[in-house]
Amino acid sequence: MRLTQTSDLWWKNAVVYCLDVETYQDSDGDGHGDFRGLIQRIDHLQRLGVTCIWLMPYYPSPDRDDGYDITDFYGVDPRLGSHGDFVEFVRTARDRGIRVIADLVVNHTSNQHPWFQSARRSPDSPYRDWYVWADQPPADGPQGITFPDKETSLWTYDEAAGQYYLHRFYKYQPDLNITNPAVRDEIARTIGFWLHLGLSGFRVDAVPFLLETTGQRDAAALPRPHDYLADLRSFLGRRSGEGVLLGEVNLPYPDTMTFFGSDRDELTMCFDFIGMQRMYLSLARGNAESLAEALRQRPQPPKDAHWATFVRNHDELTLDKLTDTQRQEVFEAFGPDPDMQLYGRGLRRRLPTMLGGDRDRIRMVYSLLFSMPGTPVLFYGEEIGMGEDLRAEGRLAVRTPMQWSAERNGGFSTADKSELPGPIPDGEYGPERVNVAAQERDPGALLCWVRLLIESYRRCPELAWGRYEVLDAGDSAVLAHRCDTEGGTVLAVHNFAAVPKKAALKLAGLDASCVLSDVLADGSERVANDGSVVVQLGRYGCRWLRVEHDFR
Ligand code: GLC
Repeated sequence: MRLTQTSDLWWKNAVVYCLDVETYQDSDGDGHGDFRGLIQRIDHLQRLGVTCIWLMPYYPSPDRDDGYDITDFYGVDPRLGSHGDFVEFVRTARDRGIRVIADLVVNHTSNQHPWFQSARRSPDSPYRDWYVWADQPPADGPQGITFPDKETSLWTYDEAAGQYYLHRFYKYQPDLNITNPAVRDEIARTIGFWLHLGLSGFRVDAVPFLLETTGQRDAAALPRPHDYLADLRSFLGRRSGEGVLLGEVNLPYPDTMTFFGSDRDELTMCFDFIGMQRMYLSLARGNAESLAEALRQRPQPPKDAHWATFVRNHDELTLDKLTDTQRQEVFEAFGPDPDMQLYGRGLRRRLPTMLGGDRDRIRMVYSLLFSMPGTPVLFYGEEIGMGEDLRAEGRLAVRTPMQWSAERNGGFSTADKSELPGPIPDGEYGPERVNVAAQERDPGALLCWVRLLIESYRRCPELAWGRYEVLDAGDSAVLAHRCDTEGGTVLAVHNFAAVPKKAALKLAGLDASCVLSDVLADGSERVANDGSVVVQLGRYGCRWLRVEHDFR
């Protein structure tokens, strides 16, 4: 690896941390988190080792889909702060070596957006064609309802317009029409605007839906929607050399690959939804095979592009790409109560509660996250093992306020409970038991483990940059993989079983002159002359091993 080939590609070994300004830190006691509060907490993120913050939507919004229903692409929700606060935040983060990206939600707007309000009132409105209309819902239109608990159709009749409009998500989120060049220009302007205010790119919401024009009467105006995504990427690159597009594409691997682009670059990174779902199946079974198989099948992204890996995100833990019986296995293991399940496909829970608080097992999962090839993305609160609150509606169960201390409202806000965006968990996972301040003082806490993992991941560029190979570990409970660059080799070995295991590995190219030295702890293993080595693992144990040459 030469510096000139690697130094600009910051996303390849970034540590991304997703948060919602609204639930992170309230600075003025009104019950809502805000940019000024977030600024006070940047040092926590710096100490953790985060290199990129992903902001969930902070734009003006009626907040019916937690900010994913936007009324002004260029604004800042006044409850969260002003443009001035936003710029101060980005500047402070940068000062600590942290880049900022934000959700780009341009598949749809809120139905309260002035564009939609104008569009529905008159067929002559300049915004009429910014949305997708039909006299009757077309039979050959897009299929599949995202929120089956609330919606029965992708089309809703609008009285004022006298036509149906398309909405991939809730009916109050009308889809924008990207076959219209004016819409495409506006999306580019939005990107340009926020880049100019200091962002380093975007997490692009619902990318396959954004590009879909199936059955639309004006689809011919944009015959190759992927060309549009490539144009957006070029635009981004012209405006900002460091700019990235991290895309939400939950499709089988071969389909996801098309979003990286074939002849021209499209998304810089795509979330690995398949690997994530298979990881849960493996956890439920205590058997690493399903994940190993996914990692073996996972295609190599084009040069400079990367997978993004994650354990949990802000949505339900979707299990939609598993078979019905596999999904049931995960439901039974990690969310048997119907109240924990959502949309028939997912779980509205965080990891520690799903794993029954098993410390070894939780630590093993984060070790996996930081050693699996791909850019790790954390969701706020994961670093301290926060749990969910099922009293909150739907997905909001995993979006409760950040737990900073055992003080009132977990140190998130001094407001009265009734002013808060939602409930705060109590009991075992409440702020009295799980909070940043207490874990700062406890070297055995999850927070210190996650810090160690991040620091080690940054010290092992092989994990991010190397070629990886899933090895045969001789025991199906164990996942072993190695990552090689010209400069070094790192192995990672993980035990999915609740009992100690031995992994018998055969390491091509290594011999008795090699020692495997532990990265996360003290310790080492000797390699035999034929490259074989036995790695001992405790229950849910994990080890990262760097190959070193013993010249004695
Ligand atoms: C994405 C977001 C989700 C949101 C939806 C509609 O799937 O992750 O939270 O509800 O898009 O914008």
